[in-house]
Amino acid sequence: MVIAALLLALLADTGYTGSAGCARCHAAIAESYSKTGMARSFRAVQPGVQLPEFDGRTFLHQASRQKFTPLNEAGKYSVTREQFIGGFPPYTVPVDFVLGSGDHARSYLHRTNEGLIQFPVSWYAQSGGYWQMSPGFDRPDHQGFTRELNDRCLFCHNGYPLQTKLANGIDCERCHGPGAQHSKDATRTSIVNPAHLSPERAIEVCMQCHLETSSRDFKGAVLRPGRAPFSYRPGEPLGDFQIYFDHAPEAGRGDKFEIVSSAYRLRQSRCFLSAPEKLGCTACHDVHRAATRAETVATTERVCASCHQRDGHVKSGSCVDCHMPTRATEDVPHVDMTDHRISRTRAVTLPPQQAAAPYTGRVVVYYPPNAVATAKPQPEAPRQIDYTSPGQALLRQGNTAAAIAAFREAVNERPELVDIRVNLAAALIVQRNYQAAKQQLEEAIRIGPPTALRAAHNNLGILLDMLGDKAGAAREFALAKF
Ligand code: HEC
Ligand code: HEC
Ligand code: HEC
Ligand code: HEC
Ligand code: HEC
Ligand code: HEC
Ligand code: HEC
Repeated sequence: MVIAALLLALLADTGYTGSAGCARCHAAIAESYSKTGMARSFRAVQPGVQLPEFDGRTFLHQASRQKFTPLNEAGKYSVTREQFIGGFPPYTVPVDFVLGSGDHARSYLHRTNEGLIQFPVSWYAQSGGYWQMSPGFDRPDHQGFTRELNDRCLFCHNGYPLQTKLANGIDCERCHGPGAQHSKDATRTSIVNPAHLSPERAIEVCMQCHLETSSRDFKGAVLRPGRAPFSYRPGEPLGDFQIYFDHAPEAGRGDKFEIVSSAYRLRQSRCFLSAPEKLGCTACHDVHRAATRAETVATTERVCASCHQRDGHVKSGSCVDCHMPTRATEDVPHVDMTDHRISRTRAVTLPPQQAAAPYTGRVVVYYPPNAVATAKPQPEAPRQIDYTSPGQALLRQGNTAAAIAAFREAVNERPELVDIRVNLAAALIVQRNYQAAKQQLEEAIRIGPPTALRAAHNNLGILLDMLGDKAGAAREFALAKF
């Protein structure tokens, strides 16, 4: 899936140049930005990368009766797993990439021919730092070293991929858009500056990664038909790129607090709702700088003071301590985050619910707020979303068979919709049912309008490549390029 995303990104006519060149003319910003968590959120393990948490100390995961040892052998990092039941020999997996700056936590990735595998163990910075299971792995039957990293992790944690090369951290172009033209002409009009966008478009630049309605219960955001995973461009309406779903009101989950929650929670505040243009993310954050907590708190107090008077109820402490407290997140145990919902009372913190029963209730459109209304003149759009999102949610939960059944049902109902077949084929690929996947893609290509077939050609190319048909793969990749 990751490889598919990269290839799709590649195929688009991008105008991206990679952000290394920006430093030539914006040296001070580049230097200051490089110290932020965002800039350090994804790294290849290369000589010189220091990961002191690989200290050779073993930790035992009781639930699965497995022992994990993070090792550092002259700058080569790996994790060894030993298993007490089943009599399997120890298994050692090298670390190729690090995801997460470690300000709160770090996850590790191993590269295989098919994509990136997420390690079952992560390192958490709290209390001086310790190893524990990665989110979703703290269970007896966890997936071990077999879970593929999904496109979405990379979309939120890294720069735009160029050629087949992954970027090394979130970079300038993720917020400023493609910079090839600007790097040549160096004019103010050839690059996006979020400060000059409308407040709505500006906050969406951040929301592309900081808005998540739920990380666990269902697929919180679904790409619009025809949009490739990395194709959002700063300045365009985020809702043209993807639609967000949320728990229906009756689920009583409106007060949830997850790791990626700043935008979702801020958008619930009465302060924000009263004047969204004054409380965008950049009111309190200068993203080019790794600010200390004291600095951000001081900026925040000035922002509060622009609307509220400091009155008798504030005896000591900062507005942030009481109205934007740091709290434990529900989806990632071991991580505390700032609750961006500015409220009168502190919300109740629910204990982490790792093994919670899957959510089976209704979901509703969350963003853009008028999604259904705008989509009305083109009845196709909302219907298509209905056809693919349930299957995608199942696929995301790892329930491949049910996802395939859902997509098949949708194909039966609307055999002419290419998008469903592309989804079905993707699920079949996950199930390693390559011939059936190939059939679906070929059928999609037979029926679909050529303009809707980029993903189908691309995925068929990947599939043929996996099946050893290099010439066929090259042909499909070429067709995917128009
Ligand atoms: C060849 C030098 C050069 C390179 C390379 C360059 N810039 Fe610039 N950039 C400039 C200059 C000069 C200005 C200011 C223009 C002015 O004030 O008239 C500018 C302005 C900007 C602005 C502000 C625009 C505005 O409307 O206020 C942004 C944002 C920006 N650059 C981002 C980038 C990014 C991102 C990259 C890398 C993709 C980059 N620049 C590469 C020279 C460069
Ligand atoms: C490409 C995805 C992406 C975009 C776009 C993005 N962020 Fe982030 N942001 C992240 C991730 C991921 C982290 C956590 C990084 C880490 O520590 O590993 C983060 C961390 C932060 C932090 C914590 C401090 C730091 O330096 O890491 C702040 C503050 C922040 N983002 C604000 C913003 C604002 C404001 C915007 C919009 C102008 C924005 N972000 C746009 C993904 C993004
Ligand atoms: C919707 C965007 C998004 C997705 C998808 C996403 N993350 Fe994140 N992640 C973030 C943001 C934003 C933060 C920082 C949260 C904050 O500081 O408020 C973060 C924080 C983290 C951190 C802690 C970084 C630090 O030290 O602060 C780790 C580790 C992490 N994510 C791993 C992952 C993995 C692994 C996946 C895929 C399974 C993933 N994330 C999916 C946006 C995302
Ligand atoms: C996380 C999003 C994000 C990233 C990454 C980012 N910027 Fe910015 N940048 C912004 C925002 C937001 C503004 C507008 C700030 C404001 O409101 O004044 C901005 C403004 C600018 C400006 C206008 C002048 C100024 O100082 O405000 C320049 C130049 C610029 N950025 C260059 C860069 C370069 C070069 C990089 C990479 C090294 C980069 N930015 C990375 C979000 C980002
Ligand atoms: C009213 C001020 C304010 C606004 C507006 C604001 N933040 Fe924050 N944010 C803070 C404060 C205060 C902190 C805590 C800083 C610290 O502990 O270093 C923080 C922390 C963060 C962090 C670090 C992780 C965490 O949860 O502690 C991220 C990421 C972040 N904000 C993202 C955003 C994004 C994205 C937006 C816009 C949707 C936003 N913030 C809007 C005040 C604000
Ligand atoms: C743009 C103006 C604005 C800013 C900035 C702002 N607020 Fe507010 N705030 C409001 C408005 C308007 C209300 C709603 C008042 C009402 O409905 O009675 C409100 C309500 C509140 C409430 C009551 C919330 C509730 O749920 O009843 C608290 C507490 C609060 N603000 C604290 C803060 C703090 C702390 C900050 C800084 C982090 C802040 N506000 C920033 C305008 C603002
Ligand atoms: C020690 C904790 C604490 C600190 C510090 C604090 N507050 Fe409050 N604040 C509260 C509590 C508790 C309430 C709810 C009072 C109530 O409901 O009677 C409240 C209520 C409010 C309200 C709603 C008042 C109303 O009548 O609707 C606003 C606005 C507010 N605070 C703003 C601020 C600002 C701005 C700061 C920073 C200058 C701040 N607070 C600092 C605890 C605090």
